[in-house]
Amino acid sequence: MILQNWTDEHTSKFQKETFKVKHDLVGTGLFSDEALIDLLNRHPKDQLDVCTLVDDQVFQYKFRTGDVRDVDGATLLAAVKAGSIWMNLRKAMNIHPEYEAVLKQMYGEIAMHTGQKPFHARGGILISSPSARVPMHFDATETILWHVRGHKKVILFPQTQEFLSDKDYEAMIYRVTEDYLPYDESMEEAASVYDLHEGDMVTWPLNRPHRVDNLSYCVSVTTEYSTPESSIKNAAMYTNAVLRQKFGRSPNWSNATTLEKFIKAGAGTVLRKIGVLNMLKSEDMVSFVVDPSTPNYVRDVEPYPRTF
Ligand SMILES: [Fe+2]
Repeated sequence: MILQNWTDEHTSKFQKETFKVKHDLVGTGLFSDEALIDLLNRHPKDQLDVCTLVDDQVFQYKFRTGDVRDVDGATLLAAVKAGSIWMNLRKAMNIHPEYEAVLKQMYGEIAMHTGQKPFHARGGILISSPSARVPMHFDATETILWHVRGHKKVILFPQTQEFLSDKDYEAMIYRVTEDYLPYDESMEEAASVYDLHEGDMVTWPLNRPHRVDNLSYCVSVTTEYSTPESSIKNAAMYTNAVLRQKFGRSPNWSNATTLEKFIKAGAGTVLRKIGVLNMLKSEDMVSFVVDPSTPNYVRDVEPYPRTF
């Protein structure tokens, strides 16, 4: 079994409240440094995000993207350990059969416990430096963080307009690459902090804003899946974004009737297909390369658009 101490109480809280549970992903042997180096050598580079942090006035920090097309797995892992790198092997749990088998087992066990149908989850592997942080953001789909190795803190915030406004939600839906939320330190007073050590998984209600602070070199798995609830909300939020950006309106999600939400979701699916807000999408720019001859492995380069 991968899930270790799941009880009926967890079943009743699932997707409604935040809680931690133990898992045994370490026992699969797929997350040792050796296994990760081998995985990095095989993982497609267009599904690999390698980032470092830069200070930001509004978000506190932002990620900027690196180009690692010529860098092998061992060097990438050394860069994470030595420097200030955050890496996401997107869909690694889906692309590689041995990891996919584990993902199926993870969600199979959740389905068994909750009695829900198994979700079609996507899973990424995060490998990150001791100094890495993930700026305040929210996830537009149901998310679970399976922490595998190291020590990190996930800091969760209330789901109110103060922490996640409709306007910021909409922006995340059409901007795609910049999905942070405005942050200042006074927000910490309302936060709940979850310490994650080896074998801790944490799950929270849909869209709950959060940020992550590493306290050591860390390896985690992040899984996400769409539900009818998240799909309808995200399509409707696209319509609201169009109303706000194109027609100067101030739509409000929480006051909308169920009928209005459904109509807006239908419209949003069409509007998104047409790409009404595509001109507002920000381009992903590369601004560094991973270079072992630079002390923290981050060598800045003249920015250019990411085409891989
Ligand atoms: Fe997240």
